[in-house]
Amino acid sequence: MGLSSSCGEQDYKCGERHDYPRRRARRHEKGWLMASFSMATKSKIGGSLDPQDWKPVREQAHRMLDDILDYVERIRERPVWQPIPDDVRAHFRSTVPTGPTDLTAVHDEFMRYILPFATGNTHPGFMGWVHGGGNVPGMLAEMLAAGLNANLGGRDHVPIEVERQVVRWMRQLFGFPETASGLFVTGTSVANLIGVLVARTAMLGVGVRRYGVAAEPTRLIAYASAASHGCIAQAMNLSGLGTEQLRMISTGYDHRINLDALEREIAADRSAGFSPFMVIGTAGTVDIGAIDDLAGIARVARRENLWFHVDGAFGALAILAPDLAPQLTGIEEADSIALDFHKWGQVPYDAGFILVRDGTTHRDTFASPAKYLRRETRGLAAGTSWPCDLGPDLSRGFRALKTWFTLKVHGTDAIGAVISRTCSLARYLEGKIAETPKLELLAPVALNVVCFRYRAADANALNAEIVADLHESGIGAPSTTTIDGHLAIRAAIVNHRTSECDIDALVQAVVAYGDACLQNRAA
Ligand SMILES: Cc1ncc(COP(=O)(O)O)c(C=O)c1O
Repeated sequence: MGLSSSCGEQDYKCGERHDYPRRRARRHEKGWLMASFSMATKSKIGGSLDPQDWKPVREQAHRMLDDILDYVERIRERPVWQPIPDDVRAHFRSTVPTGPTDLTAVHDEFMRYILPFATGNTHPGFMGWVHGGGNVPGMLAEMLAAGLNANLGGRDHVPIEVERQVVRWMRQLFGFPETASGLFVTGTSVANLIGVLVARTAMLGVGVRRYGVAAEPTRLIAYASAASHGCIAQAMNLSGLGTEQLRMISTGYDHRINLDALEREIAADRSAGFSPFMVIGTAGTVDIGAIDDLAGIARVARRENLWFHVDGAFGALAILAPDLAPQLTGIEEADSIALDFHKWGQVPYDAGFILVRDGTTHRDTFASPAKYLRRETRGLAAGTSWPCDLGPDLSRGFRALKTWFTLKVHGTDAIGAVISRTCSLARYLEGKIAETPKLELLAPVALNVVCFRYRAADANALNAEIVADLHESGIGAPSTTTIDGHLAIRAAIVNHRTSECDIDALVQAVVAYGDACLQNRAA
């Protein structure tokens, strides 16, 4: 079945059949609407990429939908991940396709060469890094969003109202005022960068946009814990402030920021003539899921007149789980919060988000009037604040829709229950490790991340091997990290599909591969 476009004889001569309304009052008159409708249904636009015959495309679309629903429904029957065979990799070395290929054939290629070799984070045995599992309403919403093909950089259309509704919901969840602003971005890496840029504007004024930080007589200093994510240093780099100006404050065994050390560093920087401007707390550190003492950081920030930003990439949504939310106390005092809906929120990738208490400073950091982006009082170009005024992107997809569908269809109580359950599963895994003498825990279990290892003389090399064996077996996919110089198997339980049997399978497989590695070495 081809998708070649229509053309030629029956081309609609644009405008010919229009009965344009002479007054605004006639806009909704039936006759005019019918004329527009008949134009849309009967015309064939030369050169269009739309199908000539919609029926087979519709049938193929239903097959594609069924295939991907089957994939999600039967995900347990598949390996979590599998190595990419040479012929599959080679398949993606072909040259740019200048001519058409049948949609059915391209979908067959997807089924054969792409779908089986994906990351695997929809699978309940996936516990690597901090990857969410996605969810079916979110997936379907993504298809609807692609159909609308809306550009959420600006203008007056309801997709932007959907994004604004999610912003309102986030204000409500985190106790932010109505004047707070919010924006969807790719992920927390970009959300943190926005947080740093807005904090910089708050400190230096909008003039910094023109003259840059190099024009400043003093160095701006930011503070985050040594356990903070690498994208914080990257944000300092990208913002031109420089990674040297980020103080990595020590943490205790619990990986939470040491507040005394924070205060000492601030005092030392002030006496050296530098300008402390921002402190970043983490809600859910990447290594072990620790939540900083956010209320304590808020107190220091207030006293020292610093911008208080929270990197809540995965931990901030613990606000939805009544048993975990108290650990976030103090987040409501933040000046800005970065978070990902695509992690614990289970929204399909990607759906990062930034919430800023002071919407005016947020806008002042990015808004750039341009004659081709003129705002009007009516028509599609109406409205004053457009999302492009709040971040670096002008073209923006409809990430809000899959988030809106996920939150509406499941409800925040269900998402909160999933978040709670992943933490219970982490404690279940902690218990299994405690009762397995060959294994040892390497860090406290704060939320949903468990760092452990197989005990051995050459433990770092052996545990790296165990993890690679696990990946290749298709049984499970934890990742690794280093805790106090020890390589740890790191299980971040994020997926709503994960259950006790997946934890049992992980523990059994780690022991079995550990034993096998030791035997191989002895042989
Ligand atoms: C604490 C923390 N901050 C930031 C990030 C980066 O988020 P993203 O990958 O969505 O950019 C992560 C990713 O895991 C994280 O765990």
